[in-house]
Amino acid sequence: MIRIAQPLLGEEEEQAVLAVLRSGRLAQGPQVQRFEEAFAEYIGVAEAVAVSSGTAALQVALLAHGIGSGDEVVTSPFTFAATANAILATGARPVFADVSEEDFNLDPAQADERVGPRTRALLPVHLYGQAADLEALSTLARRHGLALIEDACQAAGASFAGRKAGSFGTGCFSFYATKNMTTGEGGMITTDDRELAARARLLRDHGQRRRYVSETMGYNLRLTEVAAALGLAQLQKLDAFNERRRANARYLTERLAGVITPRELPGRYHVYHQYTVRVRRGRDALLERLRDRDIEALVFYPLPVHKQPLYAGLGRSLSTLRQAQGAIGSGRRPSGGPGGIGRMPVAERLSREVLSLPVHAGLSRADLDAVALAVNEGLGGLGGSP
Ligand SMILES: Cc1ncc(COP(=O)(O)O)c(C=O)c1O
Repeated sequence: MIRIAQPLLGEEEEQAVLAVLRSGRLAQGPQVQRFEEAFAEYIGVAEAVAVSSGTAALQVALLAHGIGSGDEVVTSPFTFAATANAILATGARPVFADVSEEDFNLDPAQADERVGPRTRALLPVHLYGQAADLEALSTLARRHGLALIEDACQAAGASFAGRKAGSFGTGCFSFYATKNMTTGEGGMITTDDRELAARARLLRDHGQRRRYVSETMGYNLRLTEVAAALGLAQLQKLDAFNERRRANARYLTERLAGVITPRELPGRYHVYHQYTVRVRRGRDALLERLRDRDIEALVFYPLPVHKQPLYAGLGRSLSTLRQAQGAIGSGRRPSGGPGGIGRMPVAERLSREVLSLPVHAGLSRADLDAVALAVNEGLGGLGGSP
């Protein structure tokens, strides 16, 4: 089976984990601090706060910005549900704005339309490893006085105009087992705002600055020493992993026919967490054919978040709520309008057409040849065309 993701762990990770096990210190400690310092330097920000997952990073970032009940956060519907779930978990409401066909990420013009009197933050997602339009989104956030929280869970090492994703606003990263670098489970928040980082540290550890003195509300969202040791070793390799992914992506793009291949937009450094093609007709049949050939391909994501049962239900009350409150005085139309939270035609079309193929750094040339051949032959058999 040619897998769609595979953690690449070597001697360095084994030695690092063994050293932690032998040290006797397993819970958050010096390894976590070293990992935070190294990650902050890598992203080019003043502070990094390690947490237990990407979801935790998003939740803590939102809470550290003071976002909660009664607030709205404008985000992408074309993402893993964790993005919107993290907003809900704070008591705030996700307001979806459609994505751009260019990069599959939050469309700044659509996001602008959804900003209302209760909006507190923009939460773009750097889907598949390509940064959203961070220039336009930063400008939009500044213009409306909103926080910019980047879901960079799929984009460790990606950049926009020479600056790393996660350094434009408050960055949120995931080190889940399938990510470009992994700690098994884990996450990181990046920021230049030292006070925000201090609040995040309190939130991840029961509001304790000193042991057994809770100053504010908090949780246990800490990272372990074992995970941090893995993270330090993986961070050393991240750039090489990403270069391999980019080379693999180029190799596939040169060989695939009959599908729309992914595009790296000017000024962006795409780290290909996923290599995602669009198949205009016969996507699901092609998926089956690839599986028959022992190639793991997946659809990220078959159901946009606003269409998921949880959010479709929420959308109606969101719409009602917003219409009741009106976008009074803002001169903006409410996010809902007749028919619920509104259609997201681009996200909905993409969810029917996208297909992610193996591209990870552990693939051989023979694997990539097999993937390209299977796609080309599979599509040929289906009579498909872009
Ligand atoms: C876009 C996106 N957001 C959030 C998350 C949540 O990260 P985690 O699984 O580490 O909680 C993930 C990854 O799974 C993701 O891909």
